[in-house]
Amino acid sequence: MTVYLNGEFLPKDQARISPDDRAFLFADGAYEVLRAYRGHLFRAREHWDRFDYSLKALRIASPANTDFASIASELLKRNNIADAEATVYLQVSRGAAPRKHVFPADATPTVYAFAAPFANPVEKWASGVKVITVPDQRWARCDIKSVSLLPNVLANQQAQEAGAHEAVLVRDGFALEGSLSNFAVVLDGVLHTAPRSNYILPGISRLVALGLCSALDIPVKEFPVAEADLKCAAEAMLFGTTNEVMPVVQINERKVGEGQPGPLTRKLQQAFRDYVGECQRRG
Ligand code: PDD
Repeated sequence: MTVYLNGEFLPKDQARISPDDRAFLFADGAYEVLRAYRGHLFRAREHWDRFDYSLKALRIASPANTDFASIASELLKRNNIADAEATVYLQVSRGAAPRKHVFPADATPTVYAFAAPFANPVEKWASGVKVITVPDQRWARCDIKSVSLLPNVLANQQAQEAGAHEAVLVRDGFALEGSLSNFAVVLDGVLHTAPRSNYILPGISRLVALGLCSALDIPVKEFPVAEADLKCAAEAMLFGTTNEVMPVVQINERKVGEGQPGPLTRKLQQAFRDYVGECQRRG
């Protein structure tokens, strides 16, 4: 596997990162994950803008002479997955410096990226998935795509141990988002999803899905979803780079609706798939 590290493409087993790197010592960095659909980087502009937003929020200087789009394309080519389904991961940390909390005066940001083949979750798309609800133990800047993901990791592990696909994080009685996806429910025919705030990541798939809702005349309320209302949801779904639109058919031990992906979810899921196809064709 060929990876990218600080200006170089090299075999992964030759990539060396200092133990003083602040991503290692403090989780002091930001990241992005993009889907590549047969070489087409889905909604890349929005990912680069969000990356920029995260880095600015963390006050990490954007690395000089680093074109994330070319790095991503080059990784797909060098790993022979430019014609395949893939994901691209990019990370920037504040760099390596002796361990002190305060920002180092002269560290150079570390830039690491890799691309990997990806298998669409077609069976789960068809059948729908179970999710569990767990308390949201994250900080108050979930809008930053920081590599500091321990609460997400713990929640996701708990989901896996419960035989669930995702954990939906609940803060102050509201179901906000998943450990690596956004979350929506259908209540009285209206799609409800948490509004943008510092308590959710502004997901790009969520943005695309909401745009498709508007085109399909599906009514949307960007409104906090009370945990207590989950039992009334006729449908539920996740949005994310690796999920696209994923039907949720069970929340904890309770079926959602009839326990099958609902009609509105199916419509949105198909519209998302069609939109991906259209983006690929347009190149
Ligand atoms: N996660 N919410 C959280 C907490 C996320 O980590 C993600 C994405 C999303 C969905 O955002 P988007 O549609 O832009 O992928 C929502 C990525 C895939 C990850 O950490 O692997």
